[in-house]
Amino acid sequence: MTAASRPAIEATGLRKSFGDKVVLDGIDLNVPQGSIFALLGPNGAGKTTIVNILSTLLGADGGSARVDGHDLVTEPDAVRAAIGVTGQFSAVDNLFTGEENLALMADLHHLGRAERRRRTKDLLDRFDLAEAAGKPASTYSGGMRRRLDLAMTLVGDPRVIFLDEPTTGLDPRSRRGLWRIVRDLVAGGVTIFLTTQYLEEADELADRIAVIDHGRVVAEGSAAELKRQVPGGHIRLQFTHPAGLEAATRVFGQATPDTDALTLRVPGDGSVRTLKALLDRLDRESIEVGELSVHTPDLDDVFLTLTGQSENRKVTAR
Ligand SMILES: Nc1ncnc2c1ncn2[C@@H]1O[C@H](COP(=O)(O)OP(=O)(O)OP(=O)(O)O)[C@@H](O)[C@H]1O
Ligand SMILES: [Mg+2]
Repeated sequence: MTAASRPAIEATGLRKSFGDKVVLDGIDLNVPQGSIFALLGPNGAGKTTIVNILSTLLGADGGSARVDGHDLVTEPDAVRAAIGVTGQFSAVDNLFTGEENLALMADLHHLGRAERRRRTKDLLDRFDLAEAAGKPASTYSGGMRRRLDLAMTLVGDPRVIFLDEPTTGLDPRSRRGLWRIVRDLVAGGVTIFLTTQYLEEADELADRIAVIDHGRVVAEGSAAELKRQVPGGHIRLQFTHPAGLEAATRVFGQATPDTDALTLRVPGDGSVRTLKALLDRLDRESIEVGELSVHTPDLDDVFLTLTGQSENRKVTAR
């Protein structure tokens, strides 16, 4: 296998228990190089445990994994040299300035003085921290602290980056800023493995998503593939007159009418093509519709369905 086609992360049958509590019950993962992979799961699903195992901080009880081509058990040093980890809880030292935190990381990576200076300056600029570089990290906002944390991870020039809930607690603007940084990193060829509880984040960023629950991968695929697994997509037609509803009910055999509300629920994925076909049909039959709304399953539906909770939410299009 060539280096380019080699997966960045490959795990088979990972198992981990704490005492008699089984946390990981046979996890398989495959993350292509240069992609963004999101691990989604509710609190306690085992996301951090997976990150800790893949980053050699924790030993697995069973299964095997390779990161950047190196076996976790037999080549842990090579794995560590290839990765960067931004943990769920910040590694930033509050007593030091932003610049000092970065310099500390540079020393840990045994960079020479010139290289340390160069890289520290470059990262402070890239992460919009140059102005605050000389201030203690204790004075940083949550967003600045997250950026510094990620900048510290990049000091070692990692090939594979683990981000454990990188945007938890950030406001929408800071979150978007971090997403932009993550996209830039991937454009530069690195692989991102992130955990998140924000479905929107996985939807925005990830090429592939794995949903874990009770120690197992319960679904895997692109956001679009996952959404397709969840039934319930439909188009809701609102009529102004019972005659319209009756006519439409005859035309759309699989639809469910509500004669009191004068609405018709037509199963469909909400794609432009489906909508156009539906509107054309109504037009041909000269059926007048007052209002139309589209319900598409989103990742929330996927998540809640797959992890055993349920909720009805609706997306309205005009
Ligand atoms: N060192 C440990 N000792 C005992 N139990 C642990 C340990 N680490 C994790 N656990 C348990 O393993 C389970 C999974 O924890 P983990 O931190 O991996 O979940 P998570 O998906 O990251 O959750 P969160 O979304 O809250 O960060 C939890 O029930 C947790 O209590
Ligand atoms: Mg966690």
